[in-house]
Amino acid sequence: MLLASSWRRIVTVTAALLQTAKAVTNFTGDVLNGIPVISYLDLNDVPPAAMTRYYLYGSELNAGVIPLHIPIFVARGPADTFESGKKLSISAAVHGDELNGVRVVQRVFEELETKAASLNGTVIGIPTINLPGIYLNQRNFFTSSSSGFLTNVNRIFPGEDPLEGASAPDSLAYNIWNHVWGNTSNVDVALDLHTMSTGSDAPLWCYADVRLPYVERLAKLLEPDILKIDEGEPGSIETTFVDAEIPAITVEIGAAKQWRTDYQDRVVTFIERLLDDLRIAPSDSGPYEPDLSDTWTAMVYHNLPALHGGFAETLVKVLDDVVEGQEVAIIRNAWGDVLEVVKSPKAGKMLRVATDPATEPGRSVAAVTYNTTDPDCAAGCII
Ligand SMILES: *[C@@H]1O[C@H](CO)[C@@H](O)[C@H](O)[C@H]1NC(C)=O
Ligand SMILES: *[C@@H]1O[C@H](CO)[C@@H](O)[C@H](O)[C@H]1NC(C)=O
Ligand SMILES: *[C@@H]1O[C@H](CO)[C@@H](O)[C@H](O)[C@H]1NC(C)=O
Ligand SMILES: *[C@@H]1O[C@H](CO)[C@@H](O)[C@H](O)[C@H]1NC(C)=O
Ligand SMILES: [Zn+2]
Repeated sequence: MLLASSWRRIVTVTAALLQTAKAVTNFTGDVLNGIPVISYLDLNDVPPAAMTRYYLYGSELNAGVIPLHIPIFVARGPADTFESGKKLSISAAVHGDELNGVRVVQRVFEELETKAASLNGTVIGIPTINLPGIYLNQRNFFTSSSSGFLTNVNRIFPGEDPLEGASAPDSLAYNIWNHVWGNTSNVDVALDLHTMSTGSDAPLWCYADVRLPYVERLAKLLEPDILKIDEGEPGSIETTFVDAEIPAITVEIGAAKQWRTDYQDRVVTFIERLLDDLRIAPSDSGPYEPDLSDTWTAMVYHNLPALHGGFAETLVKVLDDVVEGQEVAIIRNAWGDVLEVVKSPKAGKMLRVATDPATEPGRSVAAVTYNTTDPDCAAGCII
C-alpha cells in the first residue's frame, strides 16, 4: 500500500511528465548572450517562481544569415497560482524612435525578478518590438526590396503568416501576436508603450477605447495628464487586442528620443498599481482610488496643419490651455517673411507642440484636445 504522501509524489511527477510531453515551446537550439532563442512560447514551459529571458525568432534580414532576435521577459509565479492568476503583457518601441517605454519595461522586470516567487500570475515584457527601427533610429521598419520602403508596424497587427510569404514586418507582427501572445491566450490585459513621434513634445497621456469594460479603469490607474477617449486604430497593437476583447491601452510617454525619468517613474508606479488591481502582485490596501484632479479627459484630438513649407515657431507649450482663435505657431519662409499664423480652432488644452521647426505643407505643427457633442465623435475622434 502506498502512503498518501508517496501517492502525491507519484501524481505530481506524472503530472510534470505529462506537462513536459504537451509542452510546445519551440527552442530553435540557438543561444545568444547565454539566452535561449525560441520560435514559440508556451507559458507552461516557463520556469515557475522566476523571471526568465528569451529571444524570439521574429523574422530575418536579407542575406539570410541575420535573424531578428526580439528580447522577451517572462515573470511567472509559482506553479500553484499559474492557472488562476492573470496574465499581463507590456510592450514597447513598436516605433523605433519611441524609447521611454523601453526603460519602463526594463525597470518593471528588475522589480519582478525579486517578486517572482510570490507572483499570482504571469507578466510578459517585450522592451524592443521594432529592432530594425531602433537600429536606424527611426519610427518605421525598413524593408530593402524595391529600392526600400518603410512600414509602420503599429498598423499591421496581427500580421501575416511567414509560411505564406509574408514580408519581414508582417512576419514579425504575426510571430509576436501568435507565438508570444498566443493569439491572446497568453494575455488578459495589455499595455503598449509609445511616445510622441520625433519632432514634437507631449505630456504623459493615453488612448483609451472605453467601449470595452476595464479599459477606462486601466486608463484612470495611469493618472495621465491627458486621457484621450478613442475609438482605436486598425492594425495597432492596442486595437487588435481590444477587438479580441482583451482590455488594452496605448500609453504615450513624452517625446521621442528623450529620456524622461519623471514620466518613466509615473508609468512604473502605474504598473505597480495595475499589478495590484489584477491581483498579480496584490497589496493589502484595497482597490486604488485614482486621483484624476490633474487629468484632462477629452474626446477630440485636433491636428493643426501648416499650409506652407517653412520654419515653425511655436507660441504655446504642452498642456497650455488655449482659447478659440489663439495663435499657436508662426510659419516663416527662408527670408523670414511670415507665411501664416496657425491658430487653435477651439478652446482646449495643447497635447502636442512641434519642437523641430522644419515644416512641410500639411505638417501638423501642434494638436489641441477638447470635447464635442458631435455624435460622430461619441467614441472619440482624431481630426
Ligand atoms: C518548431 O521548430 C520546428 C523546427 O525548427 C519547425 O519545423 C516548427 O514549425 C516550429 N513550430 C512552431 C510552432 O514554431
Ligand atoms: C490570484 O488571481 C486570481 C485571478 O485574479 C484571483 O481570483 C485570486 O484571488 C488571486 N489570489 C490571490 C492570493 O490574490
Ligand atoms: C486568432 O484566433 C481567432 C479565434 O480563434 C481566429 O479567428 C483568428 O484567425 C486568429 N488570428 C490569427 C492571426 O491567427
Ligand atoms: C469630456 O467628456 C468626458 C466624458 O465623455 C468627461 O469625463 C470630461 O470631464 C470632459 N472633459 C472636459 C475637459 O470637459
Ligand atoms: Zn508610437
